[in-house]
Amino acid sequence: MSHVPAVGAASDLGNTGDDYWKPLFAGFEVSRKWIAERCPDVVVLVYNDHATAFDLNLVPTFAIACGEEFEIADEGWGRRPVPNVRGAPDLAWHVRQAVIEDGFDLTSVGNVPVDHGLTVPLTVMFDRPDAWPVRVVPLAVNVIVYPPPSGQRCYALGKAIRRAVESFDEDLDVQVWGTGGMSHQLQGPRAGLINSEFDARFLDGMVHDPEGLARIPHIEYMRDAGSEGIELVMWLVMRGALDARVREVHRHYHVPASNTAFGHLILENGP
Ligand code: DHB
Ligand code: FE
Repeated sequence: MSHVPAVGAASDLGNTGDDYWKPLFAGFEVSRKWIAERCPDVVVLVYNDHATAFDLNLVPTFAIACGEEFEIADEGWGRRPVPNVRGAPDLAWHVRQAVIEDGFDLTSVGNVPVDHGLTVPLTVMFDRPDAWPVRVVPLAVNVIVYPPPSGQRCYALGKAIRRAVESFDEDLDVQVWGTGGMSHQLQGPRAGLINSEFDARFLDGMVHDPEGLARIPHIEYMRDAGSEGIELVMWLVMRGALDARVREVHRHYHVPASNTAFGHLILENGP
């Protein structure tokens, strides 16, 4: 799903019933019912940091956070009034080792502060709890400094994460979330760009043709989905962790949400 910061602000300020936000938040009702019925123990949350924990001095292409607790970052307008995020260090260390041994040179980080890239998806799914009902393994992907990892690499990382989770010796229920997107551009002459046709094709491809999506080159995201549309490569990590055949449980697409197109898809393994 997308991680538009204004969605977090709408929730924090109690504006979700306003004319502007109501149609977007209405699309989360099915998702919240779905997750209440099958709440996982841990979410491997694939997200990007927006110069919050990492800046230009340190840009890991892929980083896994093995810490016990993640503070909510102050991104310049105060800390969001939401609970800190609990980590899952045992699983995170296991995934780290297994995925590195499988050929992905992950960077390890500890108790990093987390920004809207990670907290807005939690709000979308869980609304405003006193404590988040899941533990989280943050998996950060660089989509800020060129070049980000390729779609192929992200898709293959998802497969490696699945193998790693399946080889963990504790029986946990784990979901993988891919976040960011959809089409958007926040700066320059094309600021405000939204391409609903691209987004619809991407959502369809997530269900039926992930390998085709994994072949989209960076330049095509830039051209068709805007400079920040490249965040969509993170969805491919999630898709790689699923079976070849998936069931579409829920789809919600809404424009506008701030400057962007908000996309949200829930998939389960199986036909
Ligand atoms: C905005 C910021 C983001 O990081 C994003 O992915 C979408 C929108 C924004 O500032 O509106
Ligand atoms: Fe973003």
